[in-house]
Amino acid sequence: MNRSTHILSSVSEAIGDTPLVGLDRIGEGLDGRILAKLEMLNPGFSKKDRPALQIIDEAEKNGSLKPGQTVVELTSGNMGTGLAIVCGNRGYPFVAVMSKGNSPERARMMSALGAEVILVDQTENASQGQVSGEDLARVEAVAKRVAAERSAFRADQFSLEGNFRAHYLHTGPELWSQSGGAITAFCDFVGSGGNYAGVARYFKEQNKDIQCYVVEPEGAAALAGQAVTRPDHPIQGGGYAMEQLKFLRGLPVDGYVQVSGKEATDAARRLAREEGIFSGFSSGANLAAACKLLSGPLSGHTICIMICDSGLKYLSTDLWS
Ligand SMILES: Cc1ncc(COP(=O)(O)O)c(C=O)c1O
Repeated sequence: MNRSTHILSSVSEAIGDTPLVGLDRIGEGLDGRILAKLEMLNPGFSKKDRPALQIIDEAEKNGSLKPGQTVVELTSGNMGTGLAIVCGNRGYPFVAVMSKGNSPERARMMSALGAEVILVDQTENASQGQVSGEDLARVEAVAKRVAAERSAFRADQFSLEGNFRAHYLHTGPELWSQSGGAITAFCDFVGSGGNYAGVARYFKEQNKDIQCYVVEPEGAAALAGQAVTRPDHPIQGGGYAMEQLKFLRGLPVDGYVQVSGKEATDAARRLAREEGIFSGFSSGANLAAACKLLSGPLSGHTICIMICDSGLKYLSTDLWS
């Protein structure tokens, strides 16, 4: 057999180029088509490997990260896993700061990959599995302090352009070429907003009529300008009810759509049973939102969504019980 060799120099080079799948079983009966980008097939089993790699690459290039310097970041587990992989490959000690509200398998995975994990208590009356904007503010305070104490590089996913650029330079173009330019809509559950912003900006440059929607939890739709009545929800990785996100500033948003924790859960279960795609709450939120949009304002569209991370990260939650 004449097989050409293609050996990567580290697993970091295996980040990206994930498959795009038509959800044609779930989509039967819907007016339109849903395309799902399988980001849980990245080495850290989530889409956040991409910004982790891009932020470290850019910091190395612009000199803000010195050889051997410690890297610190707050994470819901996925960004930290990506950073643990890239930092491990390149010899940077990495400290992940995470809320105790996120599922414990994330902390175990980051430790296994060589990260130091600092877990931060949730606010009083908060429930495990439900991380609010207030919980995140506590995590941010600890990350800031640890970064200062250790003279570390802060791989700040809420402000460093590498987060946005990972999706603008890679995720967006991959989606466009894999679909043969057939995509007419995109919706995304927002945490830092880097994924939404990068892909939406790229899509709008291809065709300004591509419809881009921000997905938020019901009761925590601050970006949509709604009153925040239920900041606690099970959709880990986003929905922090922040009124503004740096990456969304100046970017066209065609609409906002809300999903409940139950809708996200039901959709994640359907993805597993009907499509064989094992994902988490936020992927379910994206699917539930896409179904709502195809049944409403975006009927007839080809809409793409992210499968943000693997269902294995939620085995301890009630998603799979
Ligand atoms: C599982 C999951 N879904 C969604 C998001 C939100 O992505 P972004 O920060 O690009 O808005 C994250 C971010 O960490 C995540 O971990």
